[in-house]
Amino acid sequence: MNIEKIIEKMTLREKLLQLSQIMLSESNVDEMKELIEKDCYGSLILAAFSTTGNGDFNSVELEKLNEIQKIAVEKHGIPIIYGHDVIHGHKINLPIPLALAATFNPKLVKKGYEYVAMEAKNDGIRWTFAPMLDISRDPRWGRIVESTGEDPYLGCKMAEAIVKGFQGEDNTNIAACAKHYIGYGASEGGRDYHKAEISDYSLRNYYLRAFKAAVDSGVMTVMSSFNEISGQPVTSSKYLLTDVLRGELGFDGFVISDWEAVKQLIRQGVAETDEEAAILALSAGLDMDMIDNLYIDNLEKAVHNGKISEEIIDIAVRRVLKIKDKLGLFDNPYAEYTELPKQEIRDVARKCAAESLVLLKNDNNVLPLKKDEIICVMGSMAFDTKNIIGSWAADADYSESVSVYEGLEAKSENIIHYNCHIPENDTMRNLNQCDKVLIVLGEAKTVTGEANSMAKTELTSAQKFVIDRAKEAGKPVIGVLLFGRPIALENNVDYFDALIYAWHPGAQAGNAIADVLYGEMSPSGRLPVTLPKYSGQIPIYYNCPPSGRDVDGYYNPDAYNYCDVTGRPLYPFGYGLTYTTFEYGKINIDESSISIDDINNGKKVKVNVTIRNTGSFDAAETAQCYIRDCKSSMTRPIKELKGFDKLFVQAGESKTAEFEIGFEELGFYNSNGRFVVEPGEFKIYVGKDAWCDEYVSLRVNHLY
Ligand code: GLC
Repeated sequence: MNIEKIIEKMTLREKLLQLSQIMLSESNVDEMKELIEKDCYGSLILAAFSTTGNGDFNSVELEKLNEIQKIAVEKHGIPIIYGHDVIHGHKINLPIPLALAATFNPKLVKKGYEYVAMEAKNDGIRWTFAPMLDISRDPRWGRIVESTGEDPYLGCKMAEAIVKGFQGEDNTNIAACAKHYIGYGASEGGRDYHKAEISDYSLRNYYLRAFKAAVDSGVMTVMSSFNEISGQPVTSSKYLLTDVLRGELGFDGFVISDWEAVKQLIRQGVAETDEEAAILALSAGLDMDMIDNLYIDNLEKAVHNGKISEEIIDIAVRRVLKIKDKLGLFDNPYAEYTELPKQEIRDVARKCAAESLVLLKNDNNVLPLKKDEIICVMGSMAFDTKNIIGSWAADADYSESVSVYEGLEAKSENIIHYNCHIPENDTMRNLNQCDKVLIVLGEAKTVTGEANSMAKTELTSAQKFVIDRAKEAGKPVIGVLLFGRPIALENNVDYFDALIYAWHPGAQAGNAIADVLYGEMSPSGRLPVTLPKYSGQIPIYYNCPPSGRDVDGYYNPDAYNYCDVTGRPLYPFGYGLTYTTFEYGKINIDESSISIDDINNGKKVKVNVTIRNTGSFDAAETAQCYIRDCKSSMTRPIKELKGFDKLFVQAGESKTAEFEIGFEELGFYNSNGRFVVEPGEFKIYVGKDAWCDEYVSLRVNHLY
């Protein structure tokens, strides 16, 4: 398609319409048809209100989308791009993104998103506002559930998997959108939409990495974030939206604002009028304005008054039209319905959920359950079919949900439910009958996701009551925790003999949890975020820099962090058990020293470790490779994940985990914002989580 020819023929108003997105839902289809007849908006977002993500949304029928599209194409010659929040599923949801990160299985996640894209495209959606790549260290922030957790490297691998899963190898599926660029996850106090203080050093070494991976994976769009960084709203930051995103990362798609974020520049105090806000945002490099119509209502006059050049508008229009062309919308603007392989979608959702489950403890191997054991199930979440889907699942088909109880019943006849709020004797009778007690606790999806931060992230008294009652029977107690965010378990963890962190596992929750509880597959999930012991420890994350004094409580239990509680988390990043045991052999490295020249020229050292399944269960182990830069021009984290290898090893067998360490893995952004490797000593760790302490040394030598 000759984009230049199209732009040449467009009026200024038509150009500004291409840079504007407004809402379409079942309730305003006719009004929208009339509007598009006159004004061809560039994009329509399928939404009913700003936080549609936690509500229920009735898809707009395909025929109606095509009718509106027909008007745009035949009257104006430019197709509309329909956008929608397809975050971790469409009708049949995968687990929440934080749980998908816990699989440490990018290949599986990519597969899952290929099916998500299939489902959404079938509903006429050609643009999604995902992946969310905000580094998240604060469980009070409801949107941590939408993220890939606290680690940049895991974030990069998930970014690549989700972008490629959505867009497809030839980028003609659904345009992905790396969001929220940038630093939204650092909202102070976990309070949503709040300010973030991020130094350039942290911006580049933590927050920017996953966006770079998304750009390198060909992500077609980026969404700017609501927050400010150190006094500068991202929405109007030329430095972030143009110099860094385009100049440094080489992004060549288009940027859309977040919901009404352009108008919010006034509330943020950097613009006095709508016109000023629109000029600031577009001049900064924010190409498309979501929902508030500030571009279309103000910039025509602004151009005529010489306040902004039409060239800037042409640049943005060119970006938008190029993405529409790349998606094939000019050639084939209409959605076609095809029969979906529903069972395949259920199967991939079940596998993602099963691989996301993190086994935190399993004393005396009370798990896996045996089918002839009588299991008493407590806790209302055992029957839940709505909250298990998680936040941002507005199109979920809840008839597809499988509750934990249903999943268990499908496996065994020996399942008893009892409500521990009934009179004492009934409960005790039930409890005395059973072999083990299974408690299913969790949080509502509506206290997670956008605008749902929680100041208190501990178990409630009602939840503790259930645990207390379960303990009275003196039977082994197993916990399944269906919390979207990490919660602070404090000493309640001691009440459980076995404990599984199940997040919000999506439509196939019950089947996946039952598969693991009954040992049809060993749990293999690993924590993508640290689990604090006390909420007062927040923020607490593994890749923190060392201090000048012994306060590295994350690693050293005796370090002085607080005088009332430990500084050590309950479970570290990367932690997770299986039903077997693994033994790690010696860490092998092919060269223990290498010149900086060789590193800069792309040479890598090879590291490998043989891991042996020394138990009686086949299981997957995720060997993790961390580095520590022991001395450099700036402080560097005590550990940084630079590789992971998820290996399925049969009982009694061994496999070798392999890693390559070179420029990308050893480098960091220095005080000049340059990505460099500095000569000196590095420790290369390989182990099962961030607390691993076996390492080999690697010396990077100066040029001789
Ligand atoms: C919301 C969210 C963003 C979402 C957008 C469209 O406010 O911040 O993640 O994609 O608006 O719904």
